[in-house]
Amino acid sequence: MPGKNSPIGVFDSGLGGLTVVHALRQRLPAESIIYFGDTARVPYGTKSAKTVTHFSLQIVEFLIQRQVKLIVVACNTASAVALSLLQQNNTIPLVGVIEPGARAAVAATLSHHIGIIGTRATINSNAYTRTLQELDPDSRITSAACPLFVPLAEEGWADGKIAELVAQEYLAPFQSSNIDTLIPGCTHYPLLKKTIQSLLPDHVTLIDSPQAVAAEVASILKNDGIASDSEAGELQCFVSDMPQRFEELAQRFLGEPLGQVTLLQLD
Ligand code: DGL
Repeated sequence: MPGKNSPIGVFDSGLGGLTVVHALRQRLPAESIIYFGDTARVPYGTKSAKTVTHFSLQIVEFLIQRQVKLIVVACNTASAVALSLLQQNNTIPLVGVIEPGARAAVAATLSHHIGIIGTRATINSNAYTRTLQELDPDSRITSAACPLFVPLAEEGWADGKIAELVAQEYLAPFQSSNIDTLIPGCTHYPLLKKTIQSLLPDHVTLIDSPQAVAAEVASILKNDGIASDSEAGELQCFVSDMPQRFEELAQRFLGEPLGQVTLLQLD
């Protein structure tokens, strides 16, 4: 049975979920984290719901074996298509990224007109739209898939000419709509924050989804009485392929150097 000093499990299709780990480590420094990045099978955003669900079930099984006390599904695509099934199959809390981001957007909007960007799978799932409309039936939503943002962030091209040109195309629907709040509904998009913000009118608020997720996790740990009382939490990373590349790129997403990364194939 996991206890209060057991780790939190976090998983993503690859590197991007480290933006959520970064927020968790800032907000909850006493918590240990086991991170799984499915680098062998990334991207999830171009795959079917069935495939992403299958991958997610395997990863959750691995994390449960490691005795985690709570799991964060840091991947927006996996949260969009697999979270409810994962929650049905497990007794520990499973936190996705859609609802915390949507809640923060509903709290921030004045016009009730909210924009969402994400992978194709996330946008096609309508998960954000459904959640936003449940939270605020008056909300109007404009959404767009921005698939090239993921490789741009991984390549370190989040700022500069190429990112701007790509973002101009993707964000055109928001320039003419009158959204006042935008949810960057993908793990990688926080890295493109400056570029995205520069192409939107000044009054548009960009939601910080990783912060919203960290706040949700903090509140669950407190309410369930399972917050860690250790001195300092540790971070342990597992990936399904290319641990060295993960180590090289991780700092960009995590904002701090990474410890050792372990290769683990799930199939
Ligand atoms: N982690 C994915 C997400 O947040 C982005 C990368 C991918 O397509 O796998 O949707």
